[in-house]
Amino acid sequence: MARLYQSGIIATGSYVPDTVVTNHDLEKIVDTSDEWIVSRTGIRERRIAGKDMATSDLATKAALMALKSSNLTAQELDMIIVSTVTPDMNFPSTACLVQRNIGAVNASAFDLEAACSGFIYGMVVAAQFIKTSVCRYAMVIGAECLSKFVNWKDRNTCVLFGDGAGAVILGRVEDDYGILSHILGADGKGADLLALEAGGSRKPASIETVEKQLHYIHMDGSEVFKFAVRIMASMAEKVVRNAGLSREDVDYLIPHQANIRIIEAARKRLELPEDRVYVNLDRYGNMSAASIPVALDEAVRLGRIKKNDNIVMVGFGGGLTWAACAVRWAV
Ligand code: UT7
Repeated sequence: MARLYQSGIIATGSYVPDTVVTNHDLEKIVDTSDEWIVSRTGIRERRIAGKDMATSDLATKAALMALKSSNLTAQELDMIIVSTVTPDMNFPSTACLVQRNIGAVNASAFDLEAACSGFIYGMVVAAQFIKTSVCRYAMVIGAECLSKFVNWKDRNTCVLFGDGAGAVILGRVEDDYGILSHILGADGKGADLLALEAGGSRKPASIETVEKQLHYIHMDGSEVFKFAVRIMASMAEKVVRNAGLSREDVDYLIPHQANIRIIEAARKRLELPEDRVYVNLDRYGNMSAASIPVALDEAVRLGRIKKNDNIVMVGFGGGLTWAACAVRWAV
């Protein structure tokens, strides 16, 4: 049997749009308050893409930044996966648009949809191709323009989300480095808890679907919250165990950035001090599939993550889905 290789992250990049929308800005358009949003979620502001900007534009900027820090050329990429729930359009895939934009002429390209768990799902899929030498280098991007799908009159959702993109390049790494363990999971019984109902084959776009506001994100926040607290903490703990590590071995936690109270549950389960958890939801809100890779890129650029560090990434989202991985940093 041919040799299997360890796959790991060899470069990162990210991009968030310049426009900042603060909680005080939202106070002017919906019945909410900075105090409510901060105390219930931890979010203070979020970035919003301009009218002419779509998910592939954000993804392209993150991709170029990851390429720059890798010293690879776009032609050396064998695969591009874009994880998103807010593609530019139903088809072609956002990944094909990014492939064109960066000139990655040798890369296969496809989108993967697992909501906020999508980035880790994408990374685990790409890792299998690296492991088996089918691919040498694969790019995985989590990118979202959630502001275009949020009902700006619905205070239950519009205060939560933001736009952005994060990218990683996966390649072969030394044995005992890279992705040490991973968990992917789903529970379709919770499919209705977080959804954008219309615009697909079940409810194609019509005057009625627009009038009923079915092209916006709908969420049962408190049910998703209960699921998230349970799953984030238990999956963080399990993925560490599966990697053959104990809690004390974990150097850094990069959680999905949905709500500070959910992140706290995972942090406490791993018994990590606060400075070992990367939090940027105060500045960006929940960027769905982009949250983890943007946080990861920022942590790397700030020098918080170094070679040999054991990193845990964990996320949950619509589907319902969840995903976690333990990574020993290789570069
Ligand atoms: O990435 C995955 C996607 N989603 C999530 O992770 C979301 C998970 N859920 C959450 O983070 C929380 O459930 C929320 C932040 C969405 C809500 O916090 P909560 O503590 O669960 O509040 P709640 O849903 O129980 O609502 C409490 C009250 C309600 O009023 P009544 O019915 O008690 O009078 C809401 O109408 O807060 C009200 N409310 C607001 N008030 C001011 C809801 N949104 C707002 C708002 N400003 N923006």
